[in-house]
Amino acid sequence: MALSQAARTRIVDEFIPRYPSKRAALMPALWLAQEEAGWLANETFEEIGELLDLHVTDVAAVASFYVMFHRRPVGELLIEVCENPSCYLAGSDATHARICERLGLPAGHGHGMQSTADGKYSVRPTECLAACDYAPVVQVNLRFHGPVRADDVEAFLDDPARFSIEGKPSFSMVAGPQALAVDGWEAGAPEDARSQGGSRASG
Ligand code: FES
Repeated sequence: MALSQAARTRIVDEFIPRYPSKRAALMPALWLAQEEAGWLANETFEEIGELLDLHVTDVAAVASFYVMFHRRPVGELLIEVCENPSCYLAGSDATHARICERLGLPAGHGHGMQSTADGKYSVRPTECLAACDYAPVVQVNLRFHGPVRADDVEAFLDDPARFSIEGKPSFSMVAGPQALAVDGWEAGAPEDARSQGGSRASG
């Protein structure tokens, strides 16, 4: 799927000037392309490579390293079940298996992703989501939910918001940190502290 003209303009006029080299704009360019199309096709790698003067294999290598970049279409709701130790010990494998069962999908292994035929759901295991105290944690479209135990799966699929972990920040490489308060801390706090003379270097 081709990049829109608006995306190309943003990469060239906004992202590239932010950094000392064109290559450094690769991650936000990939993220923007994914936000636009939902996933990253080989054609997109070629377009981004041309804009940033990178070989297509360089672009593909970076995109394939990070699990948050999708190499194929994903469903409307991307459900990712943490499989790292805290969540595993709390039963995340059973949660993952139950979600797959309820959606009529074979349980994937590794980072294999399964999608429903109607394009509504994609499900896959993922690595630690840094919300281990809510194990087992399930991420839906980059939002944290937990604990979601196997017995909770029906209720979770009916209304994921019931299991939302309030106050956890989310981050978009394009839009920046989302301004969600976390126990008195806000995404803009470090900048505020610097403007008040906190840790800012002189000059
Ligand atoms: S181990 Fe699952 S969120 Fe950390």
